[in-house]
Amino acid sequence: MSRPPRIETVPIRVESDVVLARLLVKEVAAELGFSLLELTKMVTAASELGRNTLLHGGGGAMRLETLAEKGRDGLRLTFEDQGPGIADIEQAMINGFSTKRGMGLGLGGSKRLVDEFKLTSQPGRGTQVMVTRWK
Ligand SMILES: Nc1ncnc2c1ncn2[C@@H]1O[C@H](COP(=O)(O)OP(=O)(O)OP(=O)(O)O)[C@@H](O)[C@H]1O
Ligand SMILES: [Mg+2]
Repeated sequence: MSRPPRIETVPIRVESDVVLARLLVKEVAAELGFSLLELTKMVTAASELGRNTLLHGGGGAMRLETLAEKGRDGLRLTFEDQGPGIADIEQAMINGFSTKRGMGLGLGGSKRLVDEFKLTSQPGRGTQVMVTRWK
């Protein structure tokens, strides 16, 4: 039986917003019947991308949407900010690359945890990262 899609937007302005975003992802992933492993992967990606939105993007929002395609349920998260953007996306995706003395593992790690990963950025205008995981 199909359920109505769920769409929510969570502002990411302070550290505690990242915690709220994680909790929402966990709740909705559980509702969709994701396994504990699938759920944990999505929550981990949300945590990394939410931190990036805050630290590198200067704050923004996470949009969450549930998907149903050909009988498959999915969860899509889009992190968006109007920060400085990323001039060289290929470089930013390299594990170990960081402009803020981080581990440089957030983007590459998140990509490995999801089924679909799309990063778009307009230098000087902002960044969007869309990740999707299918059940
Ligand atoms: N939303 C964003 N806006 C601007 N730059 C970003 C954004 N997200 C990532 N970046 C750039 O990409 C680099 C790599 O991001 P990544 O998450 O992999 O590493 P990090 O955040 O530096 O360290 P870590 O996530 O391991 O703590 C960042 O250092 C930053 O330069
Ligand atoms: Mg990071």
